[in-house]
Amino acid sequence: MPRSKSRRGVVSRPAGKRPAQTGRKKTPAKKTPAAVAPVVAGKKGLNVLFVGSECATYAKSGGLGDVVAALPKALRRMGHDARIVIPLYRTIDRQRHGIVFDRSACVHMGGGEEQWVGVYSAKLDGEVPVWFVDCERFFGRGGIYDEPSGEYPDNAFRFALLSKAALQVCKDTGFVPDVMHAHDWPTALVPVFLKTWDRILSPLSNSASVLTIHNIGYQGKYHASAFPYIGVGYEHFTPNKFEDFGGINLLKAGVAFADMLTTVSPTHRSEILTPDGGMGLAPYLNARSGDLVGILNGADYEHWNPETDSYIAARYSAGDLGGKAKCKAELQRRLGLAVDPKIPLFGIVSRFAHQKGFGLLMEALPRALNSMVMQVAVLGMGDQGTEHFFHWLTAANPGRVGSYIGFSVELSHVIEAGSDFFLMPSLYEPCGLNQMYSMKYGTLPIVRAVGGLEDSVRNYNEWDGSGTGFKFQQPSGAALYDTMGWAVSTWFDRPQHIQRLRASAMAENFSWERAAREYVAVYEKAIANRKAG
Ligand code: ADP
Ligand code: GLC
Repeated sequence: MPRSKSRRGVVSRPAGKRPAQTGRKKTPAKKTPAAVAPVVAGKKGLNVLFVGSECATYAKSGGLGDVVAALPKALRRMGHDARIVIPLYRTIDRQRHGIVFDRSACVHMGGGEEQWVGVYSAKLDGEVPVWFVDCERFFGRGGIYDEPSGEYPDNAFRFALLSKAALQVCKDTGFVPDVMHAHDWPTALVPVFLKTWDRILSPLSNSASVLTIHNIGYQGKYHASAFPYIGVGYEHFTPNKFEDFGGINLLKAGVAFADMLTTVSPTHRSEILTPDGGMGLAPYLNARSGDLVGILNGADYEHWNPETDSYIAARYSAGDLGGKAKCKAELQRRLGLAVDPKIPLFGIVSRFAHQKGFGLLMEALPRALNSMVMQVAVLGMGDQGTEHFFHWLTAANPGRVGSYIGFSVELSHVIEAGSDFFLMPSLYEPCGLNQMYSMKYGTLPIVRAVGGLEDSVRNYNEWDGSGTGFKFQQPSGAALYDTMGWAVSTWFDRPQHIQRLRASAMAENFSWERAAREYVAVYEKAIANRKAG
């Protein structure tokens, strides 16, 4: 399957489907003072500006949005001044989120083009300052990157403008970041602009940059005709920077210009240095391997915690799983499944993308449904073939398969809480957040041992019942089928092991605090690299 150039995502209503949810705020978030003392006494906290195409609560298509929302919050709680810049997509409800007009800004693009934008602001979770870039021409649309009819053809222009606008916002507001933190191809031009834009005169001339690669499968490859709009000199249109088979590659340019590079798990760091895993970028990443760090994402337990989650039918904890049984019954009812606590229920919440291993699921699920006592609950959207497959599977297995094709933050929590097992047979998975959320909800992940799945899930040991989930290696439907069989037989034959696995999974702590500390070390290295270069 050809890999889409952009990340797939919508923030608004796909044709014929229920509206997407851009909000997740029903869980009452604990409020912590926005600015607390820096961790190291006497040492000034860092100014860090996140520039992203997604940020959960406002606009999200996947885990990138969760990370851009959660990491700045963790940094602020350590005493750093972390802020965020994202586009003001038309679908973001200004009133609901308390988003107010702040100023106008003039963004200078290539060819002497001056684009006036509106800059709006709000506080995420009451804590993190967010600036929104309003540009009707580019962001007044229903989707983040695309619509059901396809990817927006001007994405290079849209996100080049966002990246440049982020620098302009800093200049105009006087917020001088020690580090600008870019995420994936949409904001990979931030490091480029920092090093090429009137560097000497700019108040940002000492600002360092970090580029996090969340998903190397999406590189932002476009026709070279977008290059003049970006507005950097043709000396950078070379194969080790922008040029890619005659076109441009935004992620590759970011890799060349960023002061430090990260990806979202240690195992995935090794994977992207190989020809297969690097998806064309391995030589460039290897050239910078000393500046490339793998940091496992965290999970935001203020939003993903069965003890406080207000999306789910009943709250529960490791000590009292009574509520989980209610959540299972509620999920079974919601998706038209037979309401029966004894049948093992497998959940799926996912972008329908090749990466997620739907080829394996298409092979394994019909076979498993034929031979095992089980149910499946599915939430997702994206690839049309996969959407059709689940429509068919649901119709063919009444009471045993329930699906909702669309985007629903609420239902994603309901599935995490109500399922017994969670399927993530990814072909590659830079980190993966759903397996971490699943573990917190006592829902045992069934994962392929790649990337962050390998780093975050401990395999079940049949000897003593230790582990936190079920892992397999081979990217095949047969391997997935066997592992599902292993889970189902454990469910029926060794229920005491299921209890033990659940307890271990729920006790895992993938805190953002740990990740934030690792990012601060990376920021310091980026600042040092910037000074040296
Ligand atoms: P990726 O970023 O590759 O999509 P992750 O596991 O890191 O994978 O994160 C996926 C995030 O997107 C999770 O928060 C998950 O709940 C959410 N998500 C994915 N698909 C949907 C959907 N159809 N509706 C609601 N949330 C979804
Ligand atoms: C990406 C990856 C996913 C990761 C997420 C957040 O989209 O596919 O594995 O968890 O970004 O970093």
